[in-house]
Amino acid sequence: MTIPNTMKAAIVTAYGGPETVEIQSRPVPMPRDDEVLIKVVATTVNSGDVRMRALDAPRGMKTLMRLAIGFFRPRQPIFGAELAGTIVALGPRASRFAIGDSVIAFPGTGLRAHAEYVAVSERKPIVAKPPTLSFEAAAGLCFGGTTALHFINKANLAAGEHVLVIGASGAVGAAIVQLAKRRGAKVSAVSSAANADLVRRLGADAVIDYVTTDYMANFSAYDVIADTVGAIDFQSSLSVLKPRGRYLAISGGVAEMLARPKDGKRPMAGMAAERPEDVAFLAGLAASEEYEIVIDDVFDFDDIAKAHARVDSKRKRGSVVVRVAQ
Ligand SMILES: NC(=O)c1ccc[n+]([C@@H]2O[C@H](COP(=O)([O-])OP(=O)(O)OC[C@H]3O[C@@H](n4cnc5c(N)ncnc54)[C@H](OP(=O)(O)O)[C@@H]3O)[C@@H](O)[C@H]2O)c1
Repeated sequence: MTIPNTMKAAIVTAYGGPETVEIQSRPVPMPRDDEVLIKVVATTVNSGDVRMRALDAPRGMKTLMRLAIGFFRPRQPIFGAELAGTIVALGPRASRFAIGDSVIAFPGTGLRAHAEYVAVSERKPIVAKPPTLSFEAAAGLCFGGTTALHFINKANLAAGEHVLVIGASGAVGAAIVQLAKRRGAKVSAVSSAANADLVRRLGADAVIDYVTTDYMANFSAYDVIADTVGAIDFQSSLSVLKPRGRYLAISGGVAEMLARPKDGKRPMAGMAAERPEDVAFLAGLAASEEYEIVIDDVFDFDDIAKAHARVDSKRKRGSVVVRVAQ
């Protein structure tokens, strides 16, 4: 296959709304050393992408975020952390994959997947795409799924424990519901009525409509609270957690990271890691239809600003996918 010299890429030109995202022309990267060149078929716009675009940092982290990603505008303007695509060229020391292989890649921020081509080290989390998964579904496998695995493992969630998932219809929440059930936990899912059927289908034992029901009224009810929304905080979780309960501040900021255990109950926060074994585990589950990749909508690449706007709404269900190649 002939690889062009230039490609379309979605460039975030400034911090701000979806209108700051423009499709521009950029050179196609050359795969160096152990890198593979992937032709991107599908990617996602995730909640991390829009937070970076809008400089919407968790509480207390705005200056840190500017230092990390650029003070006045994103230093690296092509976003996109996960993709499904096809290997089209190999660097001189790349040996894990062959040209033509279909793969899922999740090296995390810095991947630059909002482009037609991406060069990435083969040592990063890249796995073969199961043939039964469409490229669109495969693109939505990693962000929510690996975050959910990270926090479930961190909490050491055990069979028989009761977990409350706040934001159960989002990318991370939908994954936590399914993976917690798989561990044998009892799952109560907090969602709006519109998403009750979805979270029930994913395995929730009980669904709590946050519009009509105060889920904070259940004294000492849960072993683990997975808060993907930032709806409560560690202090307020204490009354609803059982002894030795854990509060997972998945969208938390500095305060949650610095919070100390209290009354034998523990707050847990921080960044989830991108691990190849987690990507492979999730791909295996999805291939055998034991894990549902929830897709909110699929946008054309030229409409990627609309995908950003959908994620900004904070109403998406699972992942917002962008189809880059036909
Ligand atoms: N720590 C880490 O390493 C890490 C990694 C990944 C993501 N995150 C963070 O995790 C958070 C969740 O990400 P995500 O992509 O899963 O979010 P998301 O998909 O954008 O969440 C949207 C969902 O949240 C639900 N929701 C909104 N307000 C709610 C409320 N008050 N109560 C219950 N549900 C509510 C919405 O359902 P309704 O329409 O029914 O309300 C919608 O389905 C983000 O803040 C993200 O930055 C952290």
